[in-house]
Amino acid sequence: MLRSAILAAARSSKIERLVGTAPLSRSVVRRYVAGETTADALAAARALAADGLLSTLDYLGEDTLDMAQAEFTRDEYLRLLQALKEEGLAETTEVSVKLSALGQDIDPEAAYRHASEICESAAKAETTVTVDMEDHTRTDSTLEILGRLRANFPDTGAVLQSYLRRTEDDCKDLSKEGSRVRLCKGAYKEPESVAYQGKLDVDRSYVRCINALMAGEGYPMLATHDPRLVEIGIDRAKWFDRDKDSFEFQMLYGIRPEEQLRLAAEGYRVRCYVPYGDQWYGYLMRRLAERPANVSFFARSLVSR
Ligand code: FDA
Repeated sequence: MLRSAILAAARSSKIERLVGTAPLSRSVVRRYVAGETTADALAAARALAADGLLSTLDYLGEDTLDMAQAEFTRDEYLRLLQALKEEGLAETTEVSVKLSALGQDIDPEAAYRHASEICESAAKAETTVTVDMEDHTRTDSTLEILGRLRANFPDTGAVLQSYLRRTEDDCKDLSKEGSRVRLCKGAYKEPESVAYQGKLDVDRSYVRCINALMAGEGYPMLATHDPRLVEIGIDRAKWFDRDKDSFEFQMLYGIRPEEQLRLAAEGYRVRCYVPYGDQWYGYLMRRLAERPANVSFFARSLVSR
């Protein structure tokens, strides 16, 4: 119930205005977002690398209906990738992009071109791009664009969501040699016709998807903070005789940071997803929806305006 209400609020521009002007919401934002500028993102990547962690940087923004904004987002990624190269951070740091921030809802062809330019710049910097997955209405379009990007940039990463009923089959399709697949549970409000609604079903699907990815020839990226699924991931990697460098764990900036360090200390590859920028509203609401315990803290910050 609460999760649905928060995810509905994530799409409301009225609530976005209220939240955006609440001074204390900044302190909640800082828990999950590295800062507003490119320099903030680079500083976070540098600090994570010093702790033995990899990172993927996400310039916040989504659902744009303004082509100038989509081009601005593309340009920010090009600047960021140039900076990663110049500062010697490309070995530990890649980028994550949302196609809806690159114009997918206005003109999918333009979103493809923008993503392709970002992939080209990443290839020059000797790093990679992962294409985030958004709500189910965009899954086909995103996978279609991803397939075209992969034709020229085979290491472009996909994201699949275990809450979608289709995902086990998508995992099988994508777990080919050279393919990088990030597996997450899924963060959007989805109808029962396409998505499992109960936690147990989503978790069971996640395990089936781990099996499909670990059994395949690609590079699985297990994106979860769920301790049981992390343990199952470790177990299945052993079962399928995979080396520690043939897959990785991924977690979000600010969530279970000690666990990120613990896994890295045990020799696993661990990548932290680092969002930055001032368009943090949708991202923040999805994080609150995942953990209703955070909501009371956040609500207090709104009423004390
Ligand atoms: P679950 O929600 O069951 O949480 C397990 C435990 O983790 C909780 O009990 C708690 O301890 C901790 N935890 C989880 N969320 C927390 C929070 N917000 N605050 C504090 N503690 C928290 N989704 C999507 O739809 N498209 C995408 O492209 C991506 N990309 C992505 C990248 C990476 C690197 C990660 C880690 C996640 C995503 N996601 C995503 C989000 C994902 O779908 C999912 O919503 C969250 O990861 C939460 O699910 P968990 O697997 O962590 O399990």
